[in-house]
Amino acid sequence: METIKIGILGLGTVGSGVIRILRDHAEKISNITGRRLEVKTVVVHNLKKKRSVDLTGINLTDNADDVLCDDEIQMVVEVMGTVNTAKEYIERALKAGKHVITANKDLIATHGPELISLAKEHGCDLCYEASVAGGIPILRTIVNSFAADRIIEVRGIVNGTTNYIMTQMNKNGASYEDALESAQELGFAEADPTNDVDGIDAAYKMIILTQFAFGKDVTMDQVKVKGIRGIQKADIAEAKRLGYVIKLLGIAKLVNGHIDVSVGPVLVPQTQPLAAIQNENNAVVVTGSAVGETMFYGPGAGELPTANSVLSDITSVTKNIVMGTTGFSFNDYTNELELADDSE
Ligand code: NDP
Ligand code: HSE
Repeated sequence: METIKIGILGLGTVGSGVIRILRDHAEKISNITGRRLEVKTVVVHNLKKKRSVDLTGINLTDNADDVLCDDEIQMVVEVMGTVNTAKEYIERALKAGKHVITANKDLIATHGPELISLAKEHGCDLCYEASVAGGIPILRTIVNSFAADRIIEVRGIVNGTTNYIMTQMNKNGASYEDALESAQELGFAEADPTNDVDGIDAAYKMIILTQFAFGKDVTMDQVKVKGIRGIQKADIAEAKRLGYVIKLLGIAKLVNGHIDVSVGPVLVPQTQPLAAIQNENNAVVVTGSAVGETMFYGPGAGELPTANSVLSDITSVTKNIVMGTTGFSFNDYTNELELADDSE
C-alpha cells in the first residue's frame, strides 16, 4: 500500500491529539482511504519542551523548512495558531503543491477567501473542519446535508471556554477568574484567552459558519461582538430567578434581506435545549426552510475531539488524492444565497 507523508506544524493540545489518533486508528484509516498515513516531521517552537505523545520515528524540528521544502510531504497540518506566521507557512505549502488542513479559525475568518483562491490555483485541498465548534462536524454537515435546503438562521454556543466559565458560574457559583484559570488548565482556552472571553473567537467561528450557511463573506467589522467579562454573580442569580440562564451565543440570520451576525451574552429560557449545554460543549442550531430546526451538539474544544475533526479532513483529502479529485475548496458546494427576495 502506498504511503502519504504528512508534516505537522505545532505539537500542542491539537497536534498531540492528531498524532495519537493517527497511531491508534492507523489500520482503520488505511482501510477506508487505501493509503498508509505517516507523520514524517513535526515542527515546534521549543525543542527542549517535554512532549506528552510518543514521537518514535518522527523528526522533531524547529525549522518549518523541514516540512515546507520537503518534496516527500504531500499534506501539511497547521495546528500552531497565530495569524501571520501560520498564513506565511500555509501559503508556502500551497504554492509547493501541498494539501493543507488547519484548525486556525483566526486565520480562516480573516484570510479564508484569499487562501481558498491560492489552494485552487495550485490544485490543492484546503480544509478546516476543526476551526468551528471543535469536535462537532458542522461544516461538512452544512455542505452535505443542507445542500438542497435554504438556511434561515444559524445560532449556537461556539466557544467552549466561555461556556465552561458560564457553566461554572451558573451551576457552581464559581468566580469568573477561577473558572477561566480552570479552562486554561484543561486546554480549551486560546494561548491568550482574551479572544475567548471577549467573544472574538466566537465571532471568527460565526464568520466561517456564515460563509458555509449563506455563501457570504462577512468581515469582523460587520459582526456585533460582546464578550462575557463583567457578568456578575448577581446577574446570574437574577436571570435564574426569572427562568433563564446566561449563555454566550453566536447568531447569523436573515433580517430584511440582509445577513445579521452577532455574538454576545443572551438570556436563554431554561426550557430551551441550548440552556442545557454544559462545560466546554458546543451546540449549533441550524434552521432550514425545509427541514426546520436542527441541533448539533458535542465537545467544542479539547485534544481528541478537535483532533478527530482534523482527522476527518485528513481522511477526506487522502480520498481526494486517491481519486484524483483534489483542488476543490471545502465550501465549493455551498450555494450562494440570493438575498433580494429574503425576509425572516
Ligand atoms: P497550543 O498552544 O497547545 O500549541 C501550539 C503549538 O504550536 C505548540 O506545539 C507550539 O510549539 C507550536 N508553535 C507555536 N508557534 C510556533 C512557531 N512560530 N513555529 C513552530 N511551532 C510553533 O495550541 P492548540 O493545540 O490549543 O491550538 C492549535 C490551533 O488549533 C489554534 O489555531 C487553535 O485556535 C485551534 N484550535 C484549538 C482547539 C483546542 O481545543 N485547543 C480547538 C479548536 C481549534 P511549542 O510546543 O514548542 O511551544
Ligand atoms: N478556545 C476555543 C474555545 C477552542 O474555547 O472554544 C476551540 O476553538
